[in-house]
Amino acid sequence: KNTELIEKLYENQNLEDCELLQLINTISEEEREKLFYYARRVREREYGNDVYIRGLIEFTNVCKNDCYYCGIRKSNDKVERYRLTLDEILECAREGYVLGFRTFVLQGGEDSYFTKEKIGKIVKCIKNEFPDCAITLSVGERTYDEYEYWWNMGADRYLLRHETANEVHYKKLHPYNMSLENRKECLYSLRKIGYQVGAGFMVDSPYQTTDNLVEDLRFMQDLRPHMIGIGPYLSHENTPFNNQKNGSLQQTLVLLAIIRLLFPKVLLPATTALGTIDPNGRELGLKAGANVVMPNLSPVRVRKKYELYDNKICTGEESAQCRNCLNLRVESTGYHIVTDIGNSRIQ
Ligand code: SAM
Ligand code: FES
Repeated sequence: KNTELIEKLYENQNLEDCELLQLINTISEEEREKLFYYARRVREREYGNDVYIRGLIEFTNVCKNDCYYCGIRKSNDKVERYRLTLDEILECAREGYVLGFRTFVLQGGEDSYFTKEKIGKIVKCIKNEFPDCAITLSVGERTYDEYEYWWNMGADRYLLRHETANEVHYKKLHPYNMSLENRKECLYSLRKIGYQVGAGFMVDSPYQTTDNLVEDLRFMQDLRPHMIGIGPYLSHENTPFNNQKNGSLQQTLVLLAIIRLLFPKVLLPATTALGTIDPNGRELGLKAGANVVMPNLSPVRVRKKYELYDNKICTGEESAQCRNCLNLRVESTGYHIVTDIGNSRIQ
């Protein structure tokens, strides 16, 4: 019975493959509420009512990759490309600092214009000006040497979703030039260097099976990431997957809760994609075990250009507006945003 599986998952922080499959495939509405209740209990035991915020700075939408799901893929010639300057990036961070952000996430496409040295300089400048802040990089697959260099320049964390832990599925999402093997190797390298590492995947991405989801969970149990980013797959009109169905809110919430129970201490964001499939998505995510939100600090004039999927929220709002909006949203869940660097407690 699913209720027994939920209790077992809560007590053992694990389940057998067949049990996970059954739970994901057959959970009822009532059982979902029970699952979310246990996820909240663990979240509150580990983190109290605190919600950490991360300021996302989308500093380039130029990308050499051609992922079938992604709106800024190389072959999308309808998107106007941009790069922020060092000064513009610093300005975003200054605005964020005043609003209470103590983590800045520098995210972008895989853009070789941003060399090892250029990114190193950005990291160093932010770190000099804000020594009490953490810097998270999210710029895709680079070399061990580059990762190590940025670590030495002061970068603290790295987000690189593995996207799917299954080879066959990986090839369906990235037919050319990319390999799951390399992506996994990047994640293990980052962990070895000392970064707090974030892995993750899209829920209901095209061709995903429940078996794939279980493989994702098993891969992450091996990697032991400090952060796990998951959100629903959402289609973008100018991609080969433009006819594919969007991911489901409930399936994403179920996975968030399962992840909270499997990884009690993990940092788990209620993502922008979750806020995009449902106006209440992020609040529901927080009530299903998430404990992080990552609002946008990018200049408003570029926000629309970093459209990974259609109808992305917060593309018209100034950073301060988003910060206020989010405060109200988080308060409505009974949790509250803290001004804190929000480091991982996983070793
Ligand atoms: N280039 C870096 C990388 O590949 O890790 C960082 C930027 S990439 C756009 C950030 C994440 O956006 C990806 O890991 C992917 O999971 C997510 N993403 C891309 N397209 C998406 C879509 N259509 N729906 C939901 N999430 C998407
Ligand atoms: Fe951006 Fe609500 S969080 S407008």
